[in-house]
Amino acid sequence: MTTASSLETRVGRVTLKNPVLVASGTFGFAREYERLFPISALGGVMVTGITLEPRAGNPPPRLMETPAGLLNSIGLENPGVHKFIEEELPRLRDLGTEIIVNISGFSLDEYGRLAEILDKETGLAALEVNISCPNVKKGGMTFGVHPESAAAVTRMVRQSTSLPVWVKLSPNVTDIVEIAQAVVDAGADALTLINTLSGMAIDPEKRRPVLGNVFGGLSGPAVKPVALRMIWQVYQAVTVPLVGMGGIINYRDALEFIMAGATAVAIGTGLFLDPFSPLKVIEGLQGFLAKNPEETIRDLIGAAHCSP
Ligand SMILES: Cc1cc2nc3c(=O)[nH]c(=O)nc-3n(C[C@H](O)[C@H](O)[C@H](O)COP(=O)(O)O)c2cc1C
Repeated sequence: MTTASSLETRVGRVTLKNPVLVASGTFGFAREYERLFPISALGGVMVTGITLEPRAGNPPPRLMETPAGLLNSIGLENPGVHKFIEEELPRLRDLGTEIIVNISGFSLDEYGRLAEILDKETGLAALEVNISCPNVKKGGMTFGVHPESAAAVTRMVRQSTSLPVWVKLSPNVTDIVEIAQAVVDAGADALTLINTLSGMAIDPEKRRPVLGNVFGGLSGPAVKPVALRMIWQVYQAVTVPLVGMGGIINYRDALEFIMAGATAVAIGTGLFLDPFSPLKVIEGLQGFLAKNPEETIRDLIGAAHCSP
């Protein structure tokens, strides 16, 4: 029989009431959405990327719609970790869902400091480590594109907290499996993927790039096949749980990610199309399981890899 527990899933040490999360940077600190629906309905909230110091983000324009996607160059606008703890965390703790804090650093030390500071706080389920940030000490190359630097960030965060460490992989690499393995060897409890794909747009009238930052990150349905392929490959290579994201807008998309190997999924850009989409995805998964009453969502993880 399909029950609420049919949707329960476990990302390592973290139990989620259902496998549907919201992706970092697309749900803010849940303030706006709190007015729309009970956040406790979600499996979890991955909060907007937090840095050590407050950040104003990149110059405008910072968003552009593309066919089947969105280009963004928000540039990690956030109040900084101390204000986050003072002004946002007390409310987030009481939402009745798992809170995953997404952290971004511009040096190894910054990642370590953020993990140490957040380690002292109660009510957090896990840290999600965004490794798509430029390493300012090494000429601006992002940490996530080399196995060595990706592993170094993971090790630093691992040493600085007893919270579960989920590392968020960048798709802007030649071999995502190599990075995934390096990060798992360095102590990641789970992997989340994918972050946005690097892209740009040009305004022909102005003869200039559209985004103030020239480059931005592509998300939404346009990236789904790429994300799915990466989940599939990483699932075959590592044993830690995966949280899949990239273009999920309905329950069938979520099922594809789960059957490719994701233990849970996150919705990002889909929220801009329909803010209620996470609830609809949860309902859709429930409906799918009702048709196969002997199965739970856990039985579907990686199901597409099994030979018929
Ligand atoms: C407006 C916007 C802001 C984002 N901010 C962050 C962020 O702060 N940290 C992060 O790790 N990912 C960030 N992302 C990436 C998303 O969390 C997600 O990985 C990506 O958009 C793919 O999922 P989607 O296609 O469902 O949006 C952001 C994405 C968007 C569209």
